[in-house]
Amino acid sequence: NAPGWALDADVVVVGSGVAGLTAALRCAAAGRRTVVVTKARLDDGSTRWAQGGIAAALGEGDTPEQHLADTLVAGAGLCDEAAVRLLVTEGPDAVRRLMATGAVFDTSAETGEIELTREGGHHRRRIAHAGGDATGAEISRALVEAVQRAGIRTVENALVLDLLQDAEGRTAGVTLHVMGEGQHDGVGAVHAPAVILATGGMGQVFSATTNPPVSTGDGVALALRAGAEVSDLEFVQFHPTVLFLGPDAEGQQPLVSEAVRGEGAYLVDADGVRFMQGQHELAELAPRDIVAKGITRRMQEQGAQHMYLDARHFGARMWEQRFPTILAACRSHGIDPVTEPIPVAPAAHYASGGVRTDLHGRTTVPGLYACGEVACTGVHGANRLASNSLLEGLVFAERIAADIAGGAPAGSGPGVPVPAAGPLQPAEARYEVQRIMTDGAGVLRSAESLRAAAAALEDLYAKALTALETDGKTAVPGVETWEATNLLCVARVLVAAALRREETRGCHWREDHPDRDDAAWRRHLVVRLSATER
Ligand code: SIN
Repeated sequence: NAPGWALDADVVVVGSGVAGLTAALRCAAAGRRTVVVTKARLDDGSTRWAQGGIAAALGEGDTPEQHLADTLVAGAGLCDEAAVRLLVTEGPDAVRRLMATGAVFDTSAETGEIELTREGGHHRRRIAHAGGDATGAEISRALVEAVQRAGIRTVENALVLDLLQDAEGRTAGVTLHVMGEGQHDGVGAVHAPAVILATGGMGQVFSATTNPPVSTGDGVALALRAGAEVSDLEFVQFHPTVLFLGPDAEGQQPLVSEAVRGEGAYLVDADGVRFMQGQHELAELAPRDIVAKGITRRMQEQGAQHMYLDARHFGARMWEQRFPTILAACRSHGIDPVTEPIPVAPAAHYASGGVRTDLHGRTTVPGLYACGEVACTGVHGANRLASNSLLEGLVFAERIAADIAGGAPAGSGPGVPVPAAGPLQPAEARYEVQRIMTDGAGVLRSAESLRAAAAALEDLYAKALTALETDGKTAVPGVETWEATNLLCVARVLVAAALRREETRGCHWREDHPDRDDAAWRRHLVVRLSATER
């Protein structure tokens, strides 16, 4: 995979969601030669799909302290309080700067102030939204246009392969696999002393997820291969209310935002009975892990494949004005939320863990930064508070840009690619990984299910290794091959961490260890692959 083309830059940003594009805009504004590379089109990542909104203490009477308190409770004892404090205090101004960049949020017709809604775990209305339930799409539009206006160089259809590092281990750029971009087709490289990973999540590691097909854990896999530390991978958040399309539905599933519950929808079981009351003081608006567990438990008790979200009382007008995206998605699947309850079940939604960073977004590899879902900044702990993710992307992207503008990192020498991890997987391995992870490492986990998952993943790895030894290759490397390889890489680490954490905390739910164990487990599981493991 020797690079066939090369670009030079001061900073290369990998990914084009809220975190990546914010970082690119701020780095370019500080005079850094910035290149954005992204796996599909500029607006194809998870940001565009965000519905509910962006949380910040913007409302009258709300304070960063209250936002901090709610975030720490949701994070179940594992948040880094200093990181959360930065998030909630810098958040309101970061949202105002996003508005200055061109993002338009919904405002009240009477007061002209930003309209705020509630979501799970928030004791106040503090979620700003746009287009009713199309917040991410509006943020993405505004940032893509701003990047184009600023003339920042972008390369689309560019799957990141590996980090380039110099002889001292400092970051020297990235290698990329590009298709359909003319002069930049094939394997190439962007040389830069600073790389900002903003590649999003890894929801595609499970069969059913709210994440788009591009969310294959590429950034975490790259970081592991480069010897960076990764933390908290066992904390995968399952969104409680995803439109249920049948037990065999695969890939990206339509989200039914928490904001629907925030505006008064409630959950009912197969008999039409509300079941979240009495489980938590906030009932349907309890933190997300508690609602996902409540739904899963009641599904088990009733032998049901899903529960229902009832918002018929909104009426047609409110549905059309406040939740047009969700209304259209439900109707396109033959469900009319105006006249019938919506069938919902939990599905994989968000990786609370990722590449470990400090408060400036620096990873443990000099010159390599991470922000957004790929990062583990410490703000989410064991369970992310609703609508803190867009905010985290914004705030930490700005912090990284400030760090780079402040002089870091120093230039590096010519780089060589980090050797790829083990054998490349055939494209079909993606579906095997998803099946194994859904069966063994989903909402409910046990030592038995996790051991079975670990063994099946090792089999997949060994199969590709044997193919490599006999044939000299497993497949012609294409995007699908790299994605399958990355999915297997992150799945193995995720399962190992989930097996190790013998307690139930936040979104990590062990049936064989049903209690939270602060004495033994109020700590993080940090993984760094040794040179031989890579
Ligand atoms: C939602 O709208 O329910 C998703 C918000 C989030 O994931 O933070």
